[in-house]
Amino acid sequence: MNRREFLQAGSATVASGVGARHTLLQPASIWASPRPVAPSDTVRFASIGVGVRGCELLRSTLRVPGVECVAVCDLYDSRHTSARQALNKTIPAIRNYKEVLNRQDIDAVIIAVTDHQHRKVFVDACAAGKDVYCEKPMSHTVEDGFAMVEAAQKANRIVQIGSQRVSSILYARAKEIYDSGKLGDVYAIEAYWDRNSLGGAFVCPIPPDASEQSIDWDRWLGGAPKRSFDPVRFFRWRCFTDYGSGLVGDLFVHLISGIHFVTGTDTVPQRAQSTGGLFHYKDGRDFPDLIETFYDYPNFRVMLRCNLNNAQGEFFGFYGTKGTLIIRDSTVAYTPQNVRSEPDEYTVSWWPTAMRDEYLGKWKAEHPLPGASDFTLDEQTEIHALPDDYSDVVHHEANFFAAVRSRKRLVENEEFGNHAALGCHLANYSYFQRTAAVWDPVARRITS
Ligand SMILES: NC(=O)c1ccc[n+]([C@@H]2O[C@H](COP(=O)([O-])OP(=O)(O)OC[C@H]3O[C@@H](n4cnc5c(N)ncnc54)[C@H](O)[C@@H]3O)[C@@H](O)[C@H]2O)c1
Repeated sequence: MNRREFLQAGSATVASGVGARHTLLQPASIWASPRPVAPSDTVRFASIGVGVRGCELLRSTLRVPGVECVAVCDLYDSRHTSARQALNKTIPAIRNYKEVLNRQDIDAVIIAVTDHQHRKVFVDACAAGKDVYCEKPMSHTVEDGFAMVEAAQKANRIVQIGSQRVSSILYARAKEIYDSGKLGDVYAIEAYWDRNSLGGAFVCPIPPDASEQSIDWDRWLGGAPKRSFDPVRFFRWRCFTDYGSGLVGDLFVHLISGIHFVTGTDTVPQRAQSTGGLFHYKDGRDFPDLIETFYDYPNFRVMLRCNLNNAQGEFFGFYGTKGTLIIRDSTVAYTPQNVRSEPDEYTVSWWPTAMRDEYLGKWKAEHPLPGASDFTLDEQTEIHALPDDYSDVVHHEANFFAAVRSRKRLVENEEFGNHAALGCHLANYSYFQRTAAVWDPVARRITS
């Protein structure tokens, strides 16, 4: 249900006086009506990696009070222009991020480089004393994640990973409902994110100025296997194991982060079993265009899917013994289940009539129907929607910069980000090794 449908449904409900309760969620005050920040409290930051996401993040910072971007870095020169355009101002733009880390007037960095570069830039930034907003998935490998956790904690840095749902008021409401116990016991959770477009399948256009002159290809490869300049790999890096993690690193990570946040889970899944395949996009990519993974957690099971061949959008279902919680696009809905005791009429339907009638009569006498006043508002379906101008990206950034000032540890900190990324690595391990992937928490490695 989109916001327009939600509002239409809401007014129909009010007119008829029946059905679900509808609420338009209100953004938290830090994001909605921020107090002015004293100039002395302004957080000065730099952005490292100002590609598509980096520029999107930069533009969003214009809505966050008390922050100022003072430099940007990228290995592709046209990105320097794009970043300046995103900010509507001319600031220093360079290739080598180390020059930015050496600046003492910079408090924090936003890291939105390709996944395989996260670890190096993150570890260097922590060592240089910068607080870090790092894009998801936090790590490209299991080892990367633990090295990053260690670097952040050793340098006592404020860290936030960039799965913005964790700051969203939609997910906060979902969590409230989950924590209230209204769902009963939740043993089954499913989520999917399905798309059906070239962009959604990472088939990004190659800009006409892409060349070895405009791009520092060797530095971009970093620790990845050496190869000659290949703009397809540079711009469609998500398709290749050397630089990205495919669908799971791009999309599962948001689903896992959302589920961990709502359920208050702070662990790595114990086991993952994936299936899927590369059915449509046979363009030389390493990753499948359909992946489905079943995860074992201590108290529930999770089923995730990403399909690039049908646009079902993004969906979460939390299935409890007393109710169902659905997050779809910009709405979250709770629907109670009928948990009243019912006589087993089917089984007794072919008992001899007298025996059946006696059984049902006795059962009904022992279980009188509740009166109208026994139903409470809690048992109604409720639907909550985001307001039009709400941005969870701005909210996520606002939370990060507030923590840079307060020094309070964030929810989506390095441990949270590492756990979510490890869920992704388990899914890919299982897919490629064609076996169940088991997390060994002592050895900190994936085994079969
Ligand atoms: N949170 C979200 O919803 C979301 C959305 C999109 C992308 N992302 C993440 O953001 C990151 C960037 O994705 P993108 O789509 O912007 O990719 P992109 O290819 O458009 O941009 C990445 C940029 O990083 C630069 N870069 C790489 N290594 C560098 C280095 N060592 N120094 C300086 N610059 C370097 C590249 O030159 C490139 O311009 C990825 O981790 C991706 O998973 C997150």
